[in-house]
Amino acid sequence: AYDATPYLPRRGRLPAHRRAAADCHGCPLYRDASGTVFGRGDPHARIMLVGEQPGDQEDREGVPFVGPAGRLLRRALDEAGIDQDGVYVTNAVKHFKFTRRETGKRRIHKQPSLRETLACRPWLEAELRLVAPELVIVLGATAGRALLGESFRVGTDRGIPMPLPDVGDGIRVLATVHPSAVLRAKDRKAMYAGLVADLRTATQAL
Ligand code: URA
Ligand code: SF4
Repeated sequence: AYDATPYLPRRGRLPAHRRAAADCHGCPLYRDASGTVFGRGDPHARIMLVGEQPGDQEDREGVPFVGPAGRLLRRALDEAGIDQDGVYVTNAVKHFKFTRRETGKRRIHKQPSLRETLACRPWLEAELRLVAPELVIVLGATAGRALLGESFRVGTDRGIPMPLPDVGDGIRVLATVHPSAVLRAKDRKAMYAGLVADLRTATQAL
């Protein structure tokens, strides 16, 4: 089965994990991507944000949320009064999954499978253990499935703080929409407002 576990260092903090993750072959996604995109941010953050997987720009730069979704997320965090320097940002899946149109060079995002998401979960668990945030903000369905189980649905499970199962001693989790979903939405304004409202609820859960 796909599994990142054999690639995790037995000891060490975030930098050791970031170095080891660069060589992860726990699932086939490492083959076509440029490299592993590990989490970034305050190693003692009270809030950890978990997205889906790096996008095209994140893959090229090796840093999570530096593209359009990241810009929208930073604006929403700012509006919700969350200090961006005080958070830790990562993804459920650490490699970019994409397809190419037969013709063009453009790489098109593909949702990671449940198998790939579960394979990558040990890295996310390590980040949760090492950063030990008080609150995890789950962005969208893939991160929700990784942390809250297969039956997770953004529509019904968003906006409500709840205990984080399995991983965590007192860690709470709150789910919301993915910033990329806001960018794609027809009613972008309303969806963005919902994201900001959920982020505000998150700060009240601290
Ligand atoms: N979308 C994500 O889920 N993560 C990123 O890092 C960028 C876009
Ligand atoms: Fe390893 Fe995750 Fe990359 Fe798969 S996506 S190779 S499990 S780091």
